[in-house]
Amino acid sequence: MHKEKIAHTMALPPVTEQPNVFPLSWNAHTAKMEEVWDAAQRENWDPKQLAWDTFDVESYSWEEREAIAYWWTLLSCFDASAPPVFAEALIKCYEDHEEDPVRRCFFSVTRDEQNHEQMCGLAITRLLEHPDPLTYTPKTALGKKLQRNAHWLYFNGGRYWTGYKKAVPKYSLAVLFSSFLMGEIAAATIFKQMHDNTRELVFKEAFRNIGRDEGRHMAICMALMERDYPKLPAEDRAIVTKQIRAGYLFLSAVLFEPPMEFWDLPADFIEVQREAEEVARGAGFGIPTYEAKKENWKNAMLNLKGVLDRYDIPFPAIPEVGISGQEISQVDMDDIIPVF
Ligand SMILES: [Fe+2]
Ligand SMILES: [Fe+2]
Repeated sequence: MHKEKIAHTMALPPVTEQPNVFPLSWNAHTAKMEEVWDAAQRENWDPKQLAWDTFDVESYSWEEREAIAYWWTLLSCFDASAPPVFAEALIKCYEDHEEDPVRRCFFSVTRDEQNHEQMCGLAITRLLEHPDPLTYTPKTALGKKLQRNAHWLYFNGGRYWTGYKKAVPKYSLAVLFSSFLMGEIAAATIFKQMHDNTRELVFKEAFRNIGRDEGRHMAICMALMERDYPKLPAEDRAIVTKQIRAGYLFLSAVLFEPPMEFWDLPADFIEVQREAEEVARGAGFGIPTYEAKKENWKNAMLNLKGVLDRYDIPFPAIPEVGISGQEISQVDMDDIIPVF
């Protein structure tokens, strides 16, 4: 930092050292990013403006309310961490002097994820008549078990933040968001299924909007990969393979079921969650069945494999859904960078 005044000693100031937080340029090379940004502007929505006046929470039993609120809580364990994750990525875009449409795309993802987080909060607060699923007093036996599940999800979800913050300056955007792409592919489908199978109007609207947002996030990842993967250094390719496996393990908790060797959860966690899903489905809340989730998750992975094959990046083995590939062992919470 120059503390002494120097302007009187030279015609032009010294060159600003990099990385510096902001570029003073508006380069645009990736046309696809500009298209996605335009779509994000057109499709922006406000969770508060959904048809909340049509939502009669009292038409649901307390068990149903707690079961549906649990699903939103599960989603929040991912979507409530997404705004800071993307805010951090947005800062990186500026420090790296990323092209202008890329900066705007990451800004739009940050805003979208904020909307998803708001939506989780609005749903939970109405369903439970309390703004916090962890301090809420459960009304039913199932609600009590679900709250314990929620505590464990939150504990697990909180473990990757420090690792993420360390990873951001170390890796390129394309590497950082490789596993995230898988989440976006699967999320776009799962929200579409939930939209189709949900009866309650306000949730249906939310799922349609969230699904559309996730589709754009997927397009952003794809455009970034197309731009950067052809020139990806060999050492980064190995990291991408590992990240895909890590992303599978992490995101399975919301898009499929949490793999117990990776998530630190009570033994009856999945059983309790399945019980809640059954109750929620019975109340017209369209959580896909185990088989439908598995199919969706597998297809997302095969799609991603198709992308990575194009760039000669080895795909990890995902035996859980029957995909063979490179064996990746010892993934833990410190290794992961994924979100959705
Ligand atoms: Fe999201
Ligand atoms: Fe997303």
